Formats: sequence, structure tokens, C-alpha cells
Amino acid sequence: MATQIDSRLRFEQIKPKIGARVLNSKQELLSGELSEDILALLEKSGVLVFPRIDFTDEEQVAFTNALGGNAREISGNEVFKVSLDESINAKVAEYLKGSLYWHIDGTMNPVPIRASMLTAKVLAPEGGDTDFANTATSYVDLPQETKDRIADLRVVHSLWRSQFYHTPEPTMEQIEDWQSKGEAELPLVCTHRSGRKSMVLGNTAHYVIGKDPKESYRILHGLREFATSEPYSYRHKWTVGDTVIWDNRTSLHRATPYDPYSGRMMHRTILDGTEAWEEQ
Ligand SMILES: [Fe+2]
Repeated sequence: MATQIDSRLRFEQIKPKIGARVLNSKQELLSGELSEDILALLEKSGVLVFPRIDFTDEEQVAFTNALGGNAREISGNEVFKVSLDESINAKVAEYLKGSLYWHIDGTMNPVPIRASMLTAKVLAPEGGDTDFANTATSYVDLPQETKDRIADLRVVHSLWRSQFYHTPEPTMEQIEDWQSKGEAELPLVCTHRSGRKSMVLGNTAHYVIGKDPKESYRILHGLREFATSEPYSYRHKWTVGDTVIWDNRTSLHRATPYDPYSGRMMHRTILDGTEAWEEQ
């Protein structure tokens, strides 16, 4: 595929409806001069891959901040170590098992994070790829009749629903812990300040308000199946040193299964949210 020159940002499209590979050097990325172009490409493509850029933690934080980052991770640190091994992540490892199923981060927060950035430090010998799906380009391609049908639907999202994917027979203690994290009601179709629209789906999407359970499941899972189908999805097979950033508001993501004790380690930073799911 031909390399495109867009001002000084060098990239190639991965697929027409999702993903681009950025080819600039680490020094160019850290200069901050490309930040505006990178953010525009991120909005357009949903997922950006920086192959073998080999960021140190300090460089990853600097790059995140150059893009308008500065968000603190759930651990309170700037860098969060993503691992399913509870000797590394203690209690969070259990919630992270939900990351093996399609989801959007922060559906429980009024203002979701803008984007997440992962750098591969240690790979699992098998599995541990990351899948992405674009809920904005897939929305555009929905039949008009479907768009009309879902336009005003509202969906209850909950962390506790997502936990049933990996723990179908929880204890009462687990259920009470999960349910203590709250719920959120969000529009099924989110309209961005830019005017773009995307669908809010994934493993936290519990039910559509006002629909019976059968209809509700057909709507949420039918749309998820469509949004994650071939033209709109991309599987990233990691090489150590790769960094990937994705637009969290317009992307579903998941890890493919891997041995939690394989040593797989990703370092994550996040970009602060700039828009509520629902602007008042
Ligand atoms: Fe996630």
C-alpha cells in the first residue's frame, strides 16, 4: 500500500473503515508538532498503530500528554500495568477478565476517557491479540430503517452485567461487590460535538429501556455483531515495542484469550475525556 503524506504526518490506512499505521519517528511524535494531525487521524480511523516505536514509560507519558492526556490511571499512577495475573494487579485482575469480551471503557462515567494507549512489553506465547471495532463507521453503514428504529433508544450499562461473561455463577458477595459499582443510562446512539454518531455497545450494555428482554438482546447483540464484523474490525497482532492508541468513544475492543500467568504485560496510559456521552 502506498504511503500517504499528510502534512508531515506519515501513515498508511490499514482498512478503509478502521485503522491506520503511523510511520513517523519517535522524535517526531514526541516533538508535539504532529499532535493535531494525529488526533484528527485518530478520529477518522479509530485506531492508530505505531509499529515498534519502543516507548519507555516516560516517553509514553510524554506522548500521551502531548496529545492532551494527563489522565490518571485507575491505580492513581500515570501508567497502568495491564495484566490478568492477580499477583501483579490484585483485585483489579478479576475485573480485567471482562476485557476478553467486546467493550468500551468508561461507560459508567458521565465523561468517558477520550482514548487509551497501550505499549506491548511482554507477549503471551499464544493469544493475547487485541481486537478493535469501529462503532462510528459501522453506524454510518446501517440501513436507514435501522437508524430510525434505534435513534431514541436508551440503554442501561452496568459493570455487574459485564462480569457475568466470565463468571456466570458468582457468589452473593461477588454480585454485591459488582453491583456496588453502580449503573448508567446512556443513549444507544451517541452524537459527538463534531456531529458524528456512534453506537455505545459492549459487555456493559445490559438492556434497552422499554423493550422486553428478548427484543432488547436482539437489538444489542445484533448491533454488536454488525459493528464487529469484517469491514469495521481489526485484529492487532502485537510485536514487543508496538504502541496502539484507540478512540475510546467510537471503538469496541477486547483481548483474545491468553494464559493469565504467561507474563503478558501491556503498559497503558489514557487521554482525558473531553465530551460527555450525552451533552446537556
Ligand atoms: Fe478496556
